Parts: sequence; C-alpha cells; structure tokens
Amino acid sequence: MTNRKIPLAAVIGSPVAHSRSPALHTHWLKKYGLHGHYVPMDVSQHDLPEVLAALPKMGFVGANVTIPHKETVLKLANVVTDRAALIGAANTLIFRSDGKMHADNTDGYGFIENLRHNAPGWDPKSGPAAVLGAGGAARAVLASLLDVGVPEIRLSNRTRARSEALRKEFGAKINVYDWVKAGNMLDTAATVVNATSLGMDGKSEMRVPLDALSPNALVTDLVYTPLETEFLRTAKTAGCMTVDGLGMLLFQAAPGFERWFGVRPEVDEEARRVVLGL
Ligand code: ATR
Repeated sequence: MTNRKIPLAAVIGSPVAHSRSPALHTHWLKKYGLHGHYVPMDVSQHDLPEVLAALPKMGFVGANVTIPHKETVLKLANVVTDRAALIGAANTLIFRSDGKMHADNTDGYGFIENLRHNAPGWDPKSGPAAVLGAGGAARAVLASLLDVGVPEIRLSNRTRARSEALRKEFGAKINVYDWVKAGNMLDTAATVVNATSLGMDGKSEMRVPLDALSPNALVTDLVYTPLETEFLRTAKTAGCMTVDGLGMLLFQAAPGFERWFGVRPEVDEEARRVVLGL
C-alpha cells in the first residue's frame, strides 16, 4: 500500500459527450499498466473558473480543453507556453504541484507529427504551403508550418477579413488569396491543407477546384469524419500523397498524457482503432 494519489485527468468542454479522448487515454493507461483515470466533463463557461480552481484539490493533474473553452483558459492560466500564446488557444492544461496552472497547445505539434509519421519524405521546406480556412484550427496549422520552416503560406478563407487578420498576426510569409480564387494557390504548392469544416459529415462539400494540384504535393485534411473526405479522394486521384486528419487528434494527445501519467504513449494502429471505436 502506498499513499500516492491516483492521478486524474479530464477533457473539459461543452458539449463533450462525443469526445474520443477518454477512450484514447483510457486505452493508453491500460496498455502501460498505469494508475489513473481520464473522464469527460461537461462544464459551462460560467462555471469554468471555479471548476479549474477545484480540480487540483481533487487529485487532477491536468486536463484537455475543447470547444468552447480553448481561448478562455489562456486568461485563467498562470503560465502560458509561447506556442499557446501564438495560436491564441490552449488544449492541454497541467496543474503543477506548486499550485500554478500551465496552459499549452499541442494541436500544431499533432498536425506536424501526423505528417512526419504518415508522409515519409515530406519536406515542408521544399515549397509553399496552401491552407484553406482561417478559424481556430487554421491558426495552429499556420503556427506549426512556420515553425518547421515553410518558405511561404498561401491562405484563403470564405471570409477574407479573417485571413487578412492572420496575415497581420503571422507576418509576411502569409499571402492571402480570395476564396473564389483559392484554386490558384494550389499551383506549385508542396503542402496543401484543408482547415475548414467543409467535407465533414453533415456539412457541405469543398467546392474549391483542385485541378492545379501538383502530384508532388502532400495533401491533408483536418476533417476526419469521414476519414477519407472528397478533398482527399480527389487529391489521391491526382496522384498526391494524402494524410487523413485522425492522426492529428492522436498525436496532439500524447504530450499531455506523458506530462500527467509519466509515459510517452505510442501512436499506432491500435490507438487509431480505439479512437474510431473499432
Ligand atoms: P475551427 O476551430 O474548427 O477552425 P471555426 O473557427 O469555426 O472552427 O472555423 C471554421 C472554418 O471553416 C472557417 O475557416 C470557416 O470559414 P469562415 O471564416 O468564412 O466562416 C470555414 N467554413 C465553414 N463553413 C464553410 C462554408 N460553407 N464555406 C466555406 N468555408 C466554410
């Protein structure tokens, strides 16, 4: 018998019932024979500060944060990592033993690791990237692509003002394209990313013409329901290497798990199946 507290972690959002994070973390806890639990918590915006203040007292060592709390937690944290500040949102919280709440964002890391693992030979420096979308997910994509040294990012969004705002924030490597001309930015692009919600089950399909895609381009979609979107299917037909968005979800979870439970978990086929509910 030891007096060691069993470490607890949560995913906090609203709604949160659909989240696959509890299944993934519980799978890893079991796989590595670790003590600990990971639970979903549906928390309103009003209650968030009180809940976050109480969790460490209850044995929680950290949490993932999802919609609609990813931006709010930056204001509540005592320490914010540079990448979370740059992205303007956090997805991973660590409740430190000194009582301080540490907020990090591992979405960009998850995005890059997914490509590194599933697109052998991909070199982000080899040419411009083209990114569709300028929401929260796009911010993580831009920050991480710049971090790994892409020479240029072409950015297009239905609401142009949002891409202009990102250009101002992320700097001169970003070139904004009008949404009706988004197809033009694919020409010579080495990395092409759908960071919109288009193509997701229940949403409209992406209508951007993909004729200008080079077969040398790596094409990835942040949408993972369905796993193979129309966007990825078209890119595959054009001869491109494609990577689905599920891996980003898996890889973004790994750093949090390691900080809370002490083991770096492996992202493998088994983890993928767990998240897919297979
Ligand atoms: P997330 O955090 O997942 O990025 P978001 O901030 O709501 O979510 O962003 C959704 C993205 O999908 C935005 O780029 C959005 O474009 P707008 O900024 O113009 O809203 C894009 N999107 C959603 N529905 C779309 C549609 N029907 N046509 C084009 N873009 C769409």
